[in-house]
Amino acid sequence: MNLIFCSDPLNPRMPESLYIDEYSACLNAGFRVNLIDFDALVSGDIPRALGSIATKSTAQPAIYRGWMLTLAQYEALYQGLLAKGIGLMTSPGQYAHCHHFPNAYPIIENWSPRSIWLEKEGGFSPERVVHACRAFGEKPIVIKDYVKSQKHYWKEACFVPCANDSEALDKVMRRFIELQGESLAGGLVFREFVPLKELGVHPQSGMPMSREFRIFFFNRAPISILKYWDDAADPELGPPRDLFLAVAAQIDSAFFSMDVAQTVGGDWLILEIGDGQVSGFSEAVDLPLFYSKLAAGFAKRD
Ligand SMILES: Nc1ncnc2c1ncn2[C@@H]1O[C@H](COP(=O)(O)OP(=O)(O)O)[C@@H](O)[C@H]1O
Ligand SMILES: [Mg+2]
Repeated sequence: MNLIFCSDPLNPRMPESLYIDEYSACLNAGFRVNLIDFDALVSGDIPRALGSIATKSTAQPAIYRGWMLTLAQYEALYQGLLAKGIGLMTSPGQYAHCHHFPNAYPIIENWSPRSIWLEKEGGFSPERVVHACRAFGEKPIVIKDYVKSQKHYWKEACFVPCANDSEALDKVMRRFIELQGESLAGGLVFREFVPLKELGVHPQSGMPMSREFRIFFFNRAPISILKYWDDAADPELGPPRDLFLAVAAQIDSAFFSMDVAQTVGGDWLILEIGDGQVSGFSEAVDLPLFYSKLAAGFAKRD
């Protein structure tokens, strides 16, 4: 049972400081912990990235917990670790399935805001985008790429109040593209905005915070249901534990996250799926409990 974390650039024998509590919880749960050099991985230097990991004499399964990786970076990590006798449980194909929005969308579609997307290869001319967004009529929409939004720039780079206001659409999209810069992943996703039960607005960015929860699944079972927003009090109960189990069963990965939200009408919907290795925790997480459940699930797989 191996866990792979990124090392602290200033202190390479230690994990990146934001993951230090996870690292300790992992050790306590009985995982062996390995560190990789994230900057070296991103720059394509795999021998340096994996330099501190000894080659295993027998194959060992592993999970990564760290910064988001592009599909190419994940593939390089996967192959590099394999050459050292470590098999990441999530294959590159499974990572892509959960990490890039269009891949898992067909599975969540019936429970998710209506969405369309445009690959970046085709460019984002106003004509192409306006044409694609005609599908939404006069409805409000949100814009993101295949991985992330600029939700903290809600009004200028995420939310478009009326999809057929081509000027506003183009302006918000351009600003989003500008903010994403080189990191724009895959293409653009346009989603119908569904009014959610609001909890308030974010104290720093002013974006609306809603009743949202992140559910981590391992071996098809929910192992953790976390309140999504640290800055919003929410006295009500979260989603039922078995909500969307049947949908989760169709996701092609053993370890993923599912973000769910409650509409103003009280229904629950699925906002997105994420790869469990790179999905963040909110402060609500009980790390010892999370890693003990991960360890128990892992033991069953061995
Ligand atoms: N279709 C939608 N309808 C209403 N609110 C949405 C919708 N999509 C996203 N949001 C809101 O915007 C936030 C960010 O969207 P998300 O797609 O999760 O981006 P990111 O992955 O960058 O967090 C969500 O947490 C939710 O509050
Ligand atoms: Mg999200």
